[in-house]
Amino acid sequence: MTATICGTGSYIPSYTMDNNDIARLVETSDEWIRERTGVARRHIAKDETTVSMAAEAAGRALADAGIPPEEVDLILVSTISSDVILPCAACEVQKEIGALHATCFDLSAACTGFVLAYNTALAYLSQGVYRTALVIGSESLSNLTNWKDRGTCILFGDGAGAAVLRAVDPEKRAYLPVTHSDGSKGAALSCKSRHDYNGLIGKIRPEAMLDESHYMQMDGQAVFKFAVKRVPEVIGEVLKLNRLDTDEIAYYILHQANKRIVEAVAKRLNEPMEKFPMNLQEYGNTSSASIPILLDEMNREGRLAAGQKLVLAGFGAGLTWGAAVIEWR
Ligand code: COA
Repeated sequence: MTATICGTGSYIPSYTMDNNDIARLVETSDEWIRERTGVARRHIAKDETTVSMAAEAAGRALADAGIPPEEVDLILVSTISSDVILPCAACEVQKEIGALHATCFDLSAACTGFVLAYNTALAYLSQGVYRTALVIGSESLSNLTNWKDRGTCILFGDGAGAAVLRAVDPEKRAYLPVTHSDGSKGAALSCKSRHDYNGLIGKIRPEAMLDESHYMQMDGQAVFKFAVKRVPEVIGEVLKLNRLDTDEIAYYILHQANKRIVEAVAKRLNEPMEKFPMNLQEYGNTSSASIPILLDEMNREGRLAAGQKLVLAGFGAGLTWGAAVIEWR
């Protein structure tokens, strides 16, 4: 048994900040940001929350799949920007959409999160544990962004994307994913919990909120080098494992971090840029939401055809990276 994606949805906040808005906060320019990252603007959750965006994206994915919420057995939310610690975002989504019978939990693996959540759901569905799963990536990264740090605040944005997976008959080909982690390099991209003020859990010291380590901190060059090396590698691994050639792949749906990273991956794989759709110019890096948002856009634009093989590839904090092959419904 394997599973197939049978519906997608996304939610993007309407409030936008373009590069000139960012240039009013830190010393930078539209030209610099576009050239180094490809980002032109990002959408910011003002009235929305991580849960409200996730629930909206989930509802749209279920509508696309034509599946009622009562039939969902598993809700998995990938996020690093939960609104609260308890209850988990997936349980809150369950409540919002009325998926009464679902088992719900969150997964935290930053920008590789959607790929890992997809793999997790796939494993459950392939084993026959569940039949229908909702896999969601939702992020309010604006809450974790240090708006005084020009090395990071230019990059990130908010949004949510979702996919409905359904178990399908054994005749359909199953693809195995490849994933990796390297905890020894975790310092390259980090963010301290707001609830552990210098280790004094429960003894809240408000002044600690101003400590920069409570916002995302990144060694940009180290992360860049990691991504351009590891992403083509893991895509090569997943193709080899599944005995696929690059010419059998219609699209590579990469985590949308930086245009230069996507271009470098295409070059290393010796594949044309047309196979690497991008929307990071509009949304910036939305961490675990970026892959399902892009997938949903392509689905709704009619760019995906039945039987096409797609590679999903994520990479980010941890460090973590991984790739999965999907065959479009
Ligand atoms: N505007 C203008 N100048 C900036 C700037 C900004 N927003 N940010 C940094 N600079 C300056 C630096 O101070 C430095 O100046 P100097 O040469 O006078 O010292 C110069 O630009 C080059 O800085 P550097 O950090 O080497 O830039 P870069 O080419 O590596 O680009 C990133 C910075 C963050 C865009 C790039 O490293 C990157 O995209 N990394 C990957 C990040 C990522 O994708 N993370 C998420 C992964 S999931």
